[in-house]
Amino acid sequence: MRIIKDIASLQTFLKPLKQAAKTIGFVPTMGNLHDGHLSLVEASKKQADITVVSIFVNPAQFGANEDLATYPRTFEEDCRQLQQLQADVVFAPDNKEIYPDDVKKHTQVKISHLSEQLCGITRPVFFQGITTVVCKLFNIVQPDLAFFGEKDYQQLLCIKQMVNDLYIPVAIIGVPTVREESGLAMSSRNNYLSAEKKQKAALLQQQLQWLCAQVQAGGKDYTNLEDQVKQQLDNTGFKSDYISIRRQSDLATPEKNDNELIILAAAMLDNTRLIDNITFKKKDELCN
Ligand code: PAJ
Repeated sequence: MRIIKDIASLQTFLKPLKQAAKTIGFVPTMGNLHDGHLSLVEASKKQADITVVSIFVNPAQFGANEDLATYPRTFEEDCRQLQQLQADVVFAPDNKEIYPDDVKKHTQVKISHLSEQLCGITRPVFFQGITTVVCKLFNIVQPDLAFFGEKDYQQLLCIKQMVNDLYIPVAIIGVPTVREESGLAMSSRNNYLSAEKKQKAALLQQQLQWLCAQVQAGGKDYTNLEDQVKQQLDNTGFKSDYISIRRQSDLATPEKNDNELIILAAAMLDNTRLIDNITFKKKDELCN
């Protein structure tokens, strides 16, 4: 496995492989890898000839009061895990390589509308920071396939829209969420939680399952059901941000005949922001 820190060396390495018609799979990450990240690498190993994993803690997607400084950085352990999975390349640029000039004067890629709801309300720079860096990484690596987790569902849809709107020639593959035994979605930020709080954090997924069951059983007053979950979370030590039932394809408010739905949630537990979602198919309404 190669560890490459600069764009020119990465492109020199990839050029003959591309000329030999090898397919390139790409897994962008911010490091501190867990089994969720590794499932993306495994998917790439299965579907592409060459797997490139990037590790870059992208400052542009962190708000001023967020955890950029304390975000867990475990580069050597990450490389050891990637070596075990036989990833071909770790691309680990520093900030100057990705943002050589003043970030404030930099070109931005912004997905209007989709990025301005749910997580985008409390984190106004978040998705713009993500789409900008992922666009740069796509142009650097020029992969055939790129793998993203369904845990970050709004991010996945933003990337799909960006690729579609800007005609970036890469297939975006969504990979199912990997969970702890408790049901808690794996996340680098779970490391901020004590063992006891981690156990409590699993309540978020349990609440999503409850809400899903209510809709499956014919519950129609979505706002009321969402509010009940918010209350339940807030009464058990969370500070809920949003719980929202949406259409899977574009996160719009579901209409009567929409069957493929998703419930998305974000909540703080102590100072740790947790997000999760559950996708499901609503049973067809019975005709009288
Ligand atoms: P990061 O949080 O490191 O996640 C990298 C990738 O791993 C994302 O596609 C994310 O959805 C996926 N992932 C995280 N937890 C997962 C889980 N439990 N199961 C399955 N996949 C999971 O997401 C980012 O980094 C950044 O925003 C990035 C796309 C790299 C741009 O900076």
